[in-house]
Amino acid sequence: MKDKIKKANSLEDLQALYTETFGKNGTMTQKLKNMANLSNNERAAINAENAELRQLFKEKQNELELAVLNAKLATEKIDVTLDNEPKTRGTIHPLTQTLKEISVILEGLGYTLWTGPEIEDDWHNFTALNTPDYHPARDMQDTFFLENGNVMRTQTSAVQIRAMEKLGAPIKMFAIGATYRREMDTTHLPSFHQIEGLYIDKNINMSDLVGNLRTLLSKFFERDLELRIRPSYFPFTEPSVEFDIKWDNGKWLEMGGAGMVHPNVLRNCNIDPNEYQGFAFGFGWDRLAMLKYGLNDLRAFTDGDIRWLKNTGF
Ligand code: PHE
Repeated sequence: MKDKIKKANSLEDLQALYTETFGKNGTMTQKLKNMANLSNNERAAINAENAELRQLFKEKQNELELAVLNAKLATEKIDVTLDNEPKTRGTIHPLTQTLKEISVILEGLGYTLWTGPEIEDDWHNFTALNTPDYHPARDMQDTFFLENGNVMRTQTSAVQIRAMEKLGAPIKMFAIGATYRREMDTTHLPSFHQIEGLYIDKNINMSDLVGNLRTLLSKFFERDLELRIRPSYFPFTEPSVEFDIKWDNGKWLEMGGAGMVHPNVLRNCNIDPNEYQGFAFGFGWDRLAMLKYGLNDLRAFTDGDIRWLKNTGF
């Protein structure tokens, strides 16, 4: 039996041998049963054989189980180097990235984000902004008119009016969003984006405007920028300016329009211009993104070409 146990090469064989030895009618079982009439020496010999056989079975069982386990490990090996299905990762559009950056800066300066509808009524887009029907400044913007007299908003300045109507003064808000004009060439699209800021309180003046613009643009472009203002005209600001920044190549880049909010605009929003005054500014969001990230084709922003996004996105 000892030899048989040692030579068993499967757990099944071993189990059969075990039954043969220790089963109900097993050889060892029988010997143990019939020990009563045997001498002490004979009993001792049987007990020793019993112990030895059990030990042998145990060792063989461990050995065979280990062999089974090893065989299993060898065949069920998981190949972690196997290629997974490729995953495509999305990117953040440069405009969205710019929006985030500008929002963080303006919120840091105490401005609160406002939104307004892209389909505006005449009042918010023009009349309340001191641009009544007959006003020649309406020609400054080629407007998309809807049949009911509403317009696609031509400027985010409309959101200023909504904010002032709702909150009155003092107020410090910004708006950022899509605007529409009937123009299209390599640098203009019929839909573009603007960023608008408004700060009305009791002692606000032009130097606050210049300081805020310079801080905003310097933080955005991550360098200390020179800011220049030039006289301009907008019906809703007086005085009105356009502002430029000095770019790395020494050239002045036109950024946007601004000025002290016209008393008529404040009155239209039930704010007393003798008590409150302040500034407003507006500029092109697309242009900011293009300048900061060195993009040169405005049309790519809306083409939805995934390859462009992969190269320029974040
Ligand atoms: N709304 C003006 C434009 O679209 C920009 C502007 C905003 C000017 C606020 C002055 C104050 O050109």
